[in-house]
Amino acid sequence: MVADDTRPDPAGESSIYELEASHEPPPLPGDVVVRDDEESLHTALASDLLIHANNCVRTFGDFHLALSGGSTPMPFYRRLMVDPAYREFPWRRTHLWIVDERCVAFDDPMSNFGQIRDYLVGHSDIPKANVHPMEATLPDAPERYEREIQAALAWREKGQDRLDFVLLGMGGDGHTASLFPGTEALEIDDRLVTRVHVAHVTPPDRVTMTYRLLNSARFIGLLVRGASKRSMIEAISQPGATLRQYPVLGIQPVGGVVRWYLDRDACPRAD
Ligand code: 6PG
Repeated sequence: MVADDTRPDPAGESSIYELEASHEPPPLPGDVVVRDDEESLHTALASDLLIHANNCVRTFGDFHLALSGGSTPMPFYRRLMVDPAYREFPWRRTHLWIVDERCVAFDDPMSNFGQIRDYLVGHSDIPKANVHPMEATLPDAPERYEREIQAALAWREKGQDRLDFVLLGMGGDGHTASLFPGTEALEIDDRLVTRVHVAHVTPPDRVTMTYRLLNSARFIGLLVRGASKRSMIEAISQPGATLRQYPVLGIQPVGGVVRWYLDRDACPRAD
């Protein structure tokens, strides 16, 4: 992995802790951006995304973006589509990847791609050939997706053949993508994409990018909002918390940046 000299840093090099004195910022691994409300949090994330996209298009001619499903990012995707500030987003040069997918048809309301398509793909001018849904219902879905990613990035110089921007969320149990606590997927280090079966989640069968692929990204944003996530933010901030307990802690990009985007409700309260 080569050093990343294309990394934009709109807000300065150091960690970004932006809370009032009465609130302790959670000591999470990486930069931490905290905003009072959804709108200003989305503004911070969107401006980082736009700068990265433009830098990558300038440097490589294209931009590889991997998005998550779940409920948290949908209003963000809608904002990207409706806010005139992002009208110039280089969608025509963007390749869109899906971080993880549930084994359901795209028209099923539980499909991550189905949701992202409805919120974003259908409203942007992203070329059809640049949209890469994960066909999780196919028996060889992980192998296919892995080949598709490798082929799309193959022409880039070695070391730059990686995802440019990954947007992740965090579940109330500390999972991210479909990397769930105690599952074998956490141990996989020789595959980019894998199948997972987690009996207690709905739906139980999924396909997910592995740590290996995610952590090779140039930039990883973790968007976490709402009071329901506060206790997990607190748990993962404790010394000694491990990625086996809380898989989101395995997000440690090699030669890239991880930046948390939290609203105040998701931040532990100071006593
Ligand atoms: C998925 C996601 C998953 C999600 C978290 C948070 O397929 O479910 O990719 O990792 O980001 O579960 O989900 P919410 O945003 O719905 O809380």
